[in-house]
Amino acid sequence: MYTINMRTRQKSYPLFLGRGILQNAGPVISRYLLPRPALVVSDKNVADHYAEKCLHSLRRAGFKPYLEVLNGGEKEKSLAAASTLYERALKTGMDRQSVFVALGGGVIGDLTGFAAATYLRGVPFIQVPTTLLAMVDSSIGGKVAVNHLLGKNLIGAFYQPSLVFGDVATLHTLPERELNAGLAEVIKYGIIWDANLFARLEHLSKGVAVKNKLIETGSRQLLPLILRSILIKGKVVYLDEKEKNLRRILNFGHTFGHALETASRYEYYLHGEAVACGMAMAVRLAEMLHILDRVSKQRIINLVARLNLPFPPVNLSINTVMEALFYDKKKEGEELVFVLPSRIGKVFMCKSPPANIVEKVIGEYLQGDLLHN
Ligand SMILES: NC(=O)c1ccc[n+]([C@@H]2O[C@H](COP(=O)([O-])OP(=O)(O)OC[C@H]3O[C@@H](n4cnc5c(N)ncnc54)[C@H](O)[C@@H]3O)[C@@H](O)[C@H]2O)c1
Repeated sequence: MYTINMRTRQKSYPLFLGRGILQNAGPVISRYLLPRPALVVSDKNVADHYAEKCLHSLRRAGFKPYLEVLNGGEKEKSLAAASTLYERALKTGMDRQSVFVALGGGVIGDLTGFAAATYLRGVPFIQVPTTLLAMVDSSIGGKVAVNHLLGKNLIGAFYQPSLVFGDVATLHTLPERELNAGLAEVIKYGIIWDANLFARLEHLSKGVAVKNKLIETGSRQLLPLILRSILIKGKVVYLDEKEKNLRRILNFGHTFGHALETASRYEYYLHGEAVACGMAMAVRLAEMLHILDRVSKQRIINLVARLNLPFPPVNLSINTVMEALFYDKKKEGEELVFVLPSRIGKVFMCKSPPANIVEKVIGEYLQGDLLHN
């Protein structure tokens, strides 16, 4: 089991990562938090596989766990779902000494973290990520949020967990499509920070015989990739916890990606898929602005294309995607901000690129020219 000390200005907390370690979660957590009532929040898919193991290990360590199982899915990241959690916590008499535990993917993590940040003005919470995306991204860094009708993650806080506990063995039950969505974020770290990581992913993808697969679900190669991703995210968050500057590079692919998600009402893409499409669009934009060379652009597109992404939805128009772009919370005043690569491993902020070029990129994507030709 790896232990990483995640440092932020707000607080430092340990992150544990290993294979087959879920049954030890309780005893490990009890080294950092005295046993107490715990609201374990999960969704149906995850709870079926892992809730009992998690509850048992918490009980074994002296905690008093209560399980709340939600339907899950992006629509669950809502104030209504947060309210369900407050109610359960109140009815079970949870006070400020209690702890919330998020057992699941990014949806459960973001929602539970948001509820923990606001319940009784803040109770400690623990992230137990069970998707690749949550392990490498959403469980670390302290961004917690729920969605609003007008856009994703618009109601939220910066609220660091007390501990993160990731068991890669849980990824064995993760559907292939979800794994690919998580790999999109791993590719992202390669593009924004680490050209070696990117090259490693390219190399791995060549070794996988099955067409359109980037890596096998049970591959032993996954753990080091997850570890590297966590270290990159941890470093960026340490340097800029509140996203004043550097942390914005983590939004690479997200400006277009969030617009695709919003325009398709969160019903078509998985979050990581939308980010992957957004990364392909961003590199095409960078190429059209003569910021990125054609060879690097093609290497990125080729790797992203291995994620087996869905075809662009037929009912989306350039206008609806443009409209959604303008609700982006990363906008500065009226200026749209894109994170664009100048080479693999290095990105910068690009403010207000010409609208006609942005529209052209969206058009190419929607016609299937970018990723599906
Ligand atoms: N807070 C952040 O910094 C941050 C960063 C990136 C993404 N996010 C958010 O994360 C969310 C997406 O997270 P996600 O991709 O993990 O989605 P998710 O939480 O919806 O999980 C994906 C699906 O996989 C299922 N699942 C989870 N773990 C499983 C397992 N081990 N075995 C079988 N099924 C399993 C879930 O039930 C769900 O159906 C989005 O809401 C996004 O906005 C937040």
